[in-house]
Amino acid sequence: MHRTAVSTAAALALLAAGCGATTGGDAGGEASVEEGFNVGLLLPESKTARYEKFDKPYFEEALKELCENCTLSYQNADQETAKQQAQADAMLTEGIDVMVLDAVDAESAASIVSNAKSQGVPVVAYDRLAEGGVDYYVSFDNKTVGKTQGEALLEALEEENTVNDGEVVVIHGAPTDPNAADFKAGVMEVLKGHVDIGAEYDTPDWSPDKAQEQMEGAITSVGADDIVGVYSANDGMAAGIVAGLKSAGVEDLPPITGQDAEIAGIQRIISGEQYMTVYKAIRPEAEVAAGMAVAAATGEEYKGDDEKGLTEVEDGSGETVKAVLLEPIAVTEENVEDTVVSDGFYSIEEICTDRYASTDFCKTANGEQ
Ligand code: BGC
Repeated sequence: MHRTAVSTAAALALLAAGCGATTGGDAGGEASVEEGFNVGLLLPESKTARYEKFDKPYFEEALKELCENCTLSYQNADQETAKQQAQADAMLTEGIDVMVLDAVDAESAASIVSNAKSQGVPVVAYDRLAEGGVDYYVSFDNKTVGKTQGEALLEALEEENTVNDGEVVVIHGAPTDPNAADFKAGVMEVLKGHVDIGAEYDTPDWSPDKAQEQMEGAITSVGADDIVGVYSANDGMAAGIVAGLKSAGVEDLPPITGQDAEIAGIQRIISGEQYMTVYKAIRPEAEVAAGMAVAAATGEEYKGDDEKGLTEVEDGSGETVKAVLLEPIAVTEENVEDTVVSDGFYSIEEICTDRYASTDFCKTANGEQ
């Protein structure tokens, strides 16, 4: 099992080691852990399960570990740019000492970032790299996420001997999300020249409903029998894609990819409705974000850790940002147990509900075969 976690103890040690260093960014830095301060967390949407189920609670826990007296202001923008702007404005008016921002639209988030910074509030970009010169960024290596998805899909087609036997439908994420562009670059690098692409779409808002419509459109234009595989950028959209295929009467589903290791995605994998997902361990992501936020607010320099040091990335407008990029892990039926289960992301009981009890995975996990 890969260990990507950055322990809270390690994060604390890093903060201590950073004492007296120059500030990580050019805003903030006056708050103290002893007195506590207010942290604003802005997440982008709620149709993808991760944000409410993992990102928010994990961040809250990690923040409490690092700063017992800190408070958290939290908002979710439901994938609306204007709503996120208003939420950020309200937080700045109420008074926050640092902002952790997972942008709905990375480009228009530049105005949120510059507003915050002009008020002396540093900004940590969380998962999606907002423009406007944020202080720090934590995410996964998102091009690798796309490559991992593409490689798994190619492997599935090779196993089924269908690489040259039909067409692949490719359904990317939201164009306003720079991660979606990275996933796209990664997956296309792997697929191009190896498979025929029958239809390719971007999906506004990462909407599962729009992904379903796109799948239905692809079935009409390519023909259900000619579709040998579907690239879905995440699990939420994979749900819509499976619904689209089923409503067109497809019973033998082609291999479909995903991302996020959502419980529904894992259950589709063990029941044969989805080929793979990408597990991104959210706890370390949230822990690093909390470490960065506390460092930025208190004027310390966040330095990463031995396992995952700080690197530098460029945002969409060419600004260099200090970043921690964590490693994604491909999950297929074979390694569900060694990844999401052994990492404590889900228990067997959570995965093997009544509906899935008769799958091979659950029978084996429950010692019934
Ligand atoms: C995240 C994915 C998520 C998608 C939709 C991306 O920025 O990295 O984990 O599935 O947004 O919210």
